Amino acid sequence: MLRTSLGPLTLESCIYNASGPRTGSVDALGKIAASAAGAVLAKSATVAEQSGNDLPRTWQADKVASLNSEGLPNKGIGYYLAPDAVAAAGTKPYLVSLSGHNLADNLAMLTEAVAVEGVAGIELNLACPNVIGHPIIAYDFDQLRDVLTAVQAHAGLRASDKLFGIKMPPYFDGPHFEKAAAIINEFDCVHFVASINTIGNALVIDTEAEMPAIRPKNGFGGLSGPAVKYTALANVKKMRELLSPRIAVVGVGGIESGEDVFNMLLCGATAVQIGTCHWIEGPKCFDRITAELEALLQRKGYASVNDVRGKLREW
Ligand code: DHB
Repeated sequence: MLRTSLGPLTLESCIYNASGPRTGSVDALGKIAASAAGAVLAKSATVAEQSGNDLPRTWQADKVASLNSEGLPNKGIGYYLAPDAVAAAGTKPYLVSLSGHNLADNLAMLTEAVAVEGVAGIELNLACPNVIGHPIIAYDFDQLRDVLTAVQAHAGLRASDKLFGIKMPPYFDGPHFEKAAAIINEFDCVHFVASINTIGNALVIDTEAEMPAIRPKNGFGGLSGPAVKYTALANVKKMRELLSPRIAVVGVGGIESGEDVFNMLLCGATAVQIGTCHWIEGPKCFDRITAELEALLQRKGYASVNDVRGKLREW
């Protein structure tokens, strides 16, 4: 019922985890694999291990929103490509996320990732708002084109049969959607676009302390959770309208229920990723949300998620 195809891959469920919370260790990846998740996606990696920004760097208001400025703490790409990490995903497609400090780092990590047989797919993160001194790549359209030009020319990726996609920041205005999609459409190496990453540079205040709730970047961090769900739906809908049909849209942002997944499917998502809810609830969220989606599909008389995709009705 939830089976879907993403580029060259078949996923037994269209629901899996977002890169970010609870994805940084072999142990965490194993727990995702043991749940109903349809794939296992690792934490965004840099070339070398790094500890990230100063603490406190996360804030949560359950059922409302979360804020983070972690600054990409991760164990380095070698860890996520090692046999232990690949094995943690078990029989599920294992995906890695690359978020290098610069294009050369991303290309070097791409070379390593395509060489590992057990890696089924690669997500290139063009949307991290939290690395101090580095603007969000996909808000700079010249840089977006330059990155994709270099990736497309990467001989290892061209020769590989792996899934390849990009993680995008949210856009908020028609011309920005159109420009981003038009650039992405030029590159046939892109199998999917995952929309959205956090809404960058939000600010939460601790009223008692009269201070920002988190320390890095004077309190500015990426907003996630239910508060961003509506922005995420709009981005999925717009990207689906504007991208070539050969490029799948993976919906991400504030999903916390089967109904939220259903709405993403209506807007044209081929699969969905869950970040904040996984962070708060743990990997059992994949079991709960799967059961909720199956019940909803059944109640509405749908046999498969493929029958729902893009079926949002018009007024
Ligand atoms: C981090 C946050 C992101 O939104 C992202 O895409 C990558 C990394 C972080 O702060 O670790």
